[in-house]
Amino acid sequence: MTSVDLKGTLPADTIEVAQTNAYTPIVKYYPCWASDARQDIEARMDRQDKERLCGEVYSSLWSHYKGALFDQYTWHIWNELNTYAPFLNPKIKDGVCLDAGCGSGRAMAAMLAVGATRVEGLDISPVNVTVAADNLSAFGDRVGVRQGSVITMPYDDETFDVVHCYGVLHHTKDPYKGFQECCRVLKPGGTLLVANYCRGGLVNRVLDLGRFFTTRRIPPLSVMKRISRAIFGEDDRHYWYALLDGLYAPFRETYTEQEMRTWFEENHLDDVQRYYCKGFYYDWPPLFSGKDRGLIVLVGQKAAA
Ligand SMILES: C[S@@+](CC[C@H](N)C(=O)[O-])C[C@H]1O[C@@H](n2cnc3c(N)ncnc32)[C@H](O)[C@@H]1O
Repeated sequence: MTSVDLKGTLPADTIEVAQTNAYTPIVKYYPCWASDARQDIEARMDRQDKERLCGEVYSSLWSHYKGALFDQYTWHIWNELNTYAPFLNPKIKDGVCLDAGCGSGRAMAAMLAVGATRVEGLDISPVNVTVAADNLSAFGDRVGVRQGSVITMPYDDETFDVVHCYGVLHHTKDPYKGFQECCRVLKPGGTLLVANYCRGGLVNRVLDLGRFFTTRRIPPLSVMKRISRAIFGEDDRHYWYALLDGLYAPFRETYTEQEMRTWFEENHLDDVQRYYCKGFYYDWPPLFSGKDRGLIVLVGQKAAA
């Protein structure tokens, strides 16, 4: 397995800043999108509003991932990228890559560490764009970050050697359209990685039950955040973050592995492979995590021209 000293490639001030216990309140936008009943909001809000709101829920999370915490979180995804090697890493190396729904830019940092020539990031939240650009400022013109939706990407056809879209499409109003966009901007012969939540299992059922309340402002995000952080603290697996992500993001779709494989097939991506990340609920029995186990990470190749 390729070994890259990621710390060596990150800017010194990004690594050194010690703020592991810093705590930025999330809040402003917690379930305000459920001010009455969810159905009313569904009727009133158009896609753009909900996308913006989704970005704002996340931006309060990603604003937290700076300094030492960003470095630590980058390692988390770096470990996951390494589970895809040697399949993915050679494509990233010397390639032009896109992280669609880039959040804090942690996967962009990991791809730069693998040796990407240039990495673009796209996120619906303007705050996330600033956070990611700050986190990656030392990489200069090897990095570009833009605000926009994965459902209508601001890139030309066949631009990227690798498109990485991790934990994003299931939080959009039209995940399949987003998937088609990922394929459109991928060069022939390029590699697409998509990670979506799996369906079923007790974890999803409990989250659905929780969302019934969180979409009605019971309990507010600020309270849930305090409770989850009191239980889990600032742990390196980010349980509190995963919990709030599951409960408060406006859209949360789930899929079977077969459904996702069908997406790849319909869009002419071959050699589709499933990877299991080192996240916490992959090790749990299917009764808890669902038959398809946690996050479904599929990687496929776009047919060469
Ligand atoms: C779970 S986070 C994943 C972030 C990143 N891929 C990572 O793994 O670190 C989901 C991200 O998708 C972004 N997002 C949600 N809807 C989006 C959309 N329609 N277009 C672009 N980004 C979106 C959110 O703002 C958030 O940063």
